[in-house]
Order: sequence, then structure tokens, then C-alpha cells
Amino acid sequence: MPTVDVLLSADAIQDRIQEMATQINQDYEGETLLLVGVLKGSYLFLADLAKRLTGDVQIDFVQVSSYKGGKSTTGVVQIIKDLDVLIEGRNVLIIEDIVDTGLTLSHLLELLKTRRPKTIRIASLLRKPEALQTPLDVDYVGFDIPKEFVVGYGLDYEERFRNLPFIGIYREP
Ligand code: IMP
Ligand code: MG
Repeated sequence: MPTVDVLLSADAIQDRIQEMATQINQDYEGETLLLVGVLKGSYLFLADLAKRLTGDVQIDFVQVSSYKGGKSTTGVVQIIKDLDVLIEGRNVLIIEDIVDTGLTLSHLLELLKTRRPKTIRIASLLRKPEALQTPLDVDYVGFDIPKEFVVGYGLDYEERFRNLPFIGIYREP
């Protein structure tokens, strides 16, 4: 059996999300906001963050493929499920689980920018600064973590472990 060593406890994650929500509430005061969750990894982060947002919020999802199930990146980003709504003139906040190489989000950001949103920013629960392969500004970061493969709280290894309430380092048997 593989093992998962706790890196971020459920409490630490919830506390940090509250801090991020407080910041986002300040930054978008008096504005409407469209959260764009990147499926599937962001589903718990989006849910916990959205519950703490106090403004006029809408939610939509996109799904992109970059990883083909395992742990290595291909660099090729495909849209599997596009947005249901138009984003022209709107405040868009992309919600992502993790920025690793940054390739997925930089492609998605360029694509969504062509639709002329009023503003577009990124919130990612996790970021691996040492793994970044392309310049990418992440406006709201939960935690910077080491270049390890992590699972839990939305993040998977071959679709497993997304349900864990904490984030841990995945270790092969
Ligand atoms: P990037 O394009 O390399 O930044 O990778 C982005 C996507 O790869 C994330 O949205 C995750 O779905 C996946 N990913 C990257 N690192 C990890 C990890 O440590 N655990 C699980 N999934 C990861
Ligand atoms: Mg993802």
C-alpha cells in the first residue's frame, strides 16, 4: 500500500482559506465575482472558499487535461469542458488546486483573456515554486510547498485520495 504523510492538516487548510477569503472579500468589495473552478482538483477548495465569500458571487467550472493520470506532465493543455457562461466584462477569479509547472494555468489564462473579461486573477491553494516552468503571477496563494507529489483535499493520484480532508505527500510502496 502507498502511504500519505500529512503535510497540511485539515485545520491548517481551513484557517488559511479563511484568510484568503477575507482578502478576496476586501479586494472585490462592491463588485460581482465569477469563480471559475478548474475541475476536478479544485472542488473542495472552491466549496470551502465560496462559503466564506460575502459578495455577489457566481460559480462555473472548466475542465482541462494536462496530466494523463499519472505524475508526469505533457505540457499539452486541452479544454475538456468549457465555461457555460460568457465572461466578457466580468471579474473572473480562476480557482485551482495547485500550480506545479504553471503550464496548465498559463494556457488557460491566455485563452480566457481573449474573451475580454473586466479582470482576471488566479487563486491557487498550493504552489510549488521550484517546479515553475513559465512565468505566472498567482494573485492568491494558500501555501508554497516543496517539489513533492501531494494528494488529498481534491488532489489525486490516479483519481484516488481526493476525499482526504488534509494534504499529504504521496509515497510509493
Ligand atoms: P501544471 O500544469 O504543471 O502547473 O499542473 C497543474 C495540474 O497538475 C494541477 O491542476 C493538478 O491537477 C496536477 N498536479 C500537479 N502537481 C500535482 C501534485 O503534486 N499532486 C496531484 N496533482 C498535481
Ligand atoms: Mg488540477
